[in-house]
Amino acid sequence: MKRALCPGTFDPMTNGHLDVIERAAAVFDELVVVVALSPDKGGGPLFTVDERVEMVRDATSHLANVTVRPFDSLLVDLARQLEATIIVKGLRAVTDFEREFQMAQLNYRIDHEIETMFIVSIPDYMYLSSSAVKEIAGYGGSVEGLVPEHVNERLVERLCKGR
Ligand code: PNS
Repeated sequence: MKRALCPGTFDPMTNGHLDVIERAAAVFDELVVVVALSPDKGGGPLFTVDERVEMVRDATSHLANVTVRPFDSLLVDLARQLEATIIVKGLRAVTDFEREFQMAQLNYRIDHEIETMFIVSIPDYMYLSSSAVKEIAGYGGSVEGLVPEHVNERLVERLCKGR
């Protein structure tokens, strides 16, 4: 039984994240999407961790072997606790590579029994990021097709009210 973790901040989840989760769910028996609190990332997340977990849950409800939970610990500690042996992440353009390489190396150093694997982004989502989505939505631009519909609604509600 192969259980994998798919970690991230998901502030908010994009269609690029969803594509990686769907493809990972097809490879592993169980996939646990773990949403990091990440309080310091980019001046603090736009959405609370509970909101982010809910958005990921809504978007992945069609995937029977996927569960979603928040976390605030070392990823490898969580992997051990959940008896997961794989960390699966999406890899977009080369700009992701150095940071992902560093995390994978450090996680491997902490625990050799947990492997990091990457799913390469499809060209459509290669340059898609949560921060770009927030910036576009923040200026009133449309992010339709870049995020799930319910995430789009939440972004509009959070960023565009009063415009
Ligand atoms: O979506 P992100 O922000 O790129 O995800 C980064 C995340 C949450 C996967 C990473 O920051 C993480 O694993 N945080 C947990 C703390 C930890 O284990 N840090 C050591 C990794 S080298």
